[in-house]
Amino acid sequence: MNQNGHIWFDDLERPIQAHGGMILESQGRYYWYGENKDASNFGHNQRQVPFVGISCYSSSDLKVWHYEGLVLNENSDLEGRINRTSVVERPKVVFNRQTQMFVMWCHFDDAAYHFAGCCVAIADCPTGPFKVVDILRPNGKESRDMTLFQNEKKAYLIHSSDMNKTIYFSELTEDYLNTTGFMTKAFVDQEREAPTIFQHDDWFFMITSGCTGWHPNPALFSRSHFLLSGQKLIDNPCQGVGRKTTYDGQPTYVLEVDQHSYLMLDHWHPDDLRSSGYSILPIETNGRDLRIPWVEIPFGGQVN
Ligand code: GAL
Repeated sequence: MNQNGHIWFDDLERPIQAHGGMILESQGRYYWYGENKDASNFGHNQRQVPFVGISCYSSSDLKVWHYEGLVLNENSDLEGRINRTSVVERPKVVFNRQTQMFVMWCHFDDAAYHFAGCCVAIADCPTGPFKVVDILRPNGKESRDMTLFQNEKKAYLIHSSDMNKTIYFSELTEDYLNTTGFMTKAFVDQEREAPTIFQHDDWFFMITSGCTGWHPNPALFSRSHFLLSGQKLIDNPCQGVGRKTTYDGQPTYVLEVDQHSYLMLDHWHPDDLRSSGYSILPIETNGRDLRIPWVEIPFGGQVN
């Protein structure tokens, strides 16, 4: 059985490679997208792996995961802008009802993290293959750690920008393939990254990390009654001994299942990134406050 804080295994007992990921529900099946880091560390500081691809795993119960392959790799960009030295991180996928396409946004960078942009790719089914439609800087702004948020009306890219000092909410075009130019800022100069967001009752909650690279730091939750303004940092939702390091993890996504919210964490192993672990922890909401206690088993045993 997979355990929080450790590497997880798929239905063939192979280590799951889906770091910086997210889980999308589509027609009763779950799809877990994430970075495949199954290569040896390299680079001047040995703190990177060559680009392998974006993995997809699928599951009917969120417990047993079946590998669907690399849904994005070096060959997914016909213009040849992706290679082994590219950084492609934190893939997030949403379904566009209007175009009936699955749209993936990822952090796209050069090995030195100077480009600070996004890769946008589409597929007509959740298991891909995804084709790159653009590599861009949203509204000309930097974008490193990022996520997507979709509601009935719009979708937004939420990204660390301005040298990771400030988070931007950038509205996406109707086809979700670009940004419209409309954007708002959150946490100005507060240096937050690894953004996650979810709505509960009449609050929009975010859980973010500080900016310390692969090394863990205390997560903070924030809240606002408004999606696009007023996010206020409140407190660290973690409990007990692991609190100061987010249980040695970093947020990557908030997954919602049966009206419960769960925080997905990466447990980075900077010296051997492919062995980085995962956690999925239940979020306890109490009106305006959040608590995320540690549990050993993913989903706290709550999902059947
Ligand atoms: C972290 C970020 C990761 C990765 C890493 C590289 O801050 O959250 O996604 O980019 O830095 O050092």
